[in-house]
Amino acid sequence: MPIQELDKKKVGMFHTRLADFGYLDLHPYSQVEPAKRAAWTIEQLKKNLSAPQGTIFGHFRNGRLLGMAGARISTFDSEHFEKTMGRIGPIHLSPEAAEYDGKQLVLACMKHLLKYGCKFVDVRVPTADLKLIRSLLRTGFYLADTQVEYAFRFDKTELPKVEHQAELRLAVPDDRKQLLALTRDTFDGYIDRFHLDPFFDDAKATDMYVKWIGNSLTKLADAVLVAEIGMRIAGFLTLEVKHKQNKATDFRMAEGVLAGVAPWARGKGIYTSLLAECLPWFKERADVATVVTQVDNTAVQTAWANLGYRLVSGKHTFHWHTP
Ligand SMILES: CC(C)(COP(=O)(O)OP(=O)(O)OC[C@H]1O[C@@H](n2cnc3c(N)ncnc32)[C@H](O)[C@@H]1OP(=O)(O)O)[C@@H](O)C(=O)NCCC(=O)NCCS
Repeated sequence: MPIQELDKKKVGMFHTRLADFGYLDLHPYSQVEPAKRAAWTIEQLKKNLSAPQGTIFGHFRNGRLLGMAGARISTFDSEHFEKTMGRIGPIHLSPEAAEYDGKQLVLACMKHLLKYGCKFVDVRVPTADLKLIRSLLRTGFYLADTQVEYAFRFDKTELPKVEHQAELRLAVPDDRKQLLALTRDTFDGYIDRFHLDPFFDDAKATDMYVKWIGNSLTKLADAVLVAEIGMRIAGFLTLEVKHKQNKATDFRMAEGVLAGVAPWARGKGIYTSLLAECLPWFKERADVATVVTQVDNTAVQTAWANLGYRLVSGKHTFHWHTP
């Protein structure tokens, strides 16, 4: 049978073959050797098996592995948007079979997710993976956003010096109320894939960020940096060390994940201050600090470039919605 559902044990057997695949997660980071990238991909694939209705498909031809993909229900998104939402990923194709575009693999995932009542499916792929992108478009997926990732390399770049226009400190539990309100103001009408997709309610898309900062304060983030002007929180940045990934790859990465500056405090360099101030904190814990945004968010990319962060990769997010 060309398409097979794989259990944990079988997936682990493809470690060596996956190492030759292109565009595995972390492919822009030459510091991570291919075998470690493959190990991390396998961990990501296996995560599907502990998620609701999760599975992994492998596509084989004459014993050759053409591609692998995971699929599952996204619990958080489904509860938040009150519809059954599925996710495909990671999905990777073998560079060996030049003619293979992964369409059958995508269709197998879709069939699986539709069986469990999914009304929506998303998948994120590197912008360079053109074969896969074409087959997603042919399968009925539409482009929902494009993200870019920048990285600050502590071995190559001096820490920047910035004159701060605000007091910077780590958040404390008492900041919660202010941070929730600030996040709502900051992300109302933001240019992310949910606000821009007419199938989603705008208010719910904004609420997602409010939940996100709330969860960051309790469990998601390792720390939250805030900027204060006159006892009022003007901006924030959540800091996350990639603990699991670092263990699998032996390479230490951390990310500035969610950030915003209140509309009343914009244009004063507050964001630039936050992105400079997080670097010493990251340097103690990581070799590289990363940040990700929508390609059209030129303001944050200007700040990153000014501070010494460099563009490393891009990813497209595709959505599929019941017609
Ligand atoms: C984007 C945002 C964080 C910028 O905050 P800020 O404190 O005003 O930014 P700064 O004052 O530090 O400016 C950073 C750079 O971006 C530029 N910039 C700021 N706002 C801009 C805008 N609307 N359009 C274009 N460039 C802009 C500034 O000129 C500055 O570059 P320069 O120093 O070379 O002049 C803020 O507008 C915001 O919270 N927006 C909505 C949420 C968001 O985008 N979050 C980040 C998600 S990754």
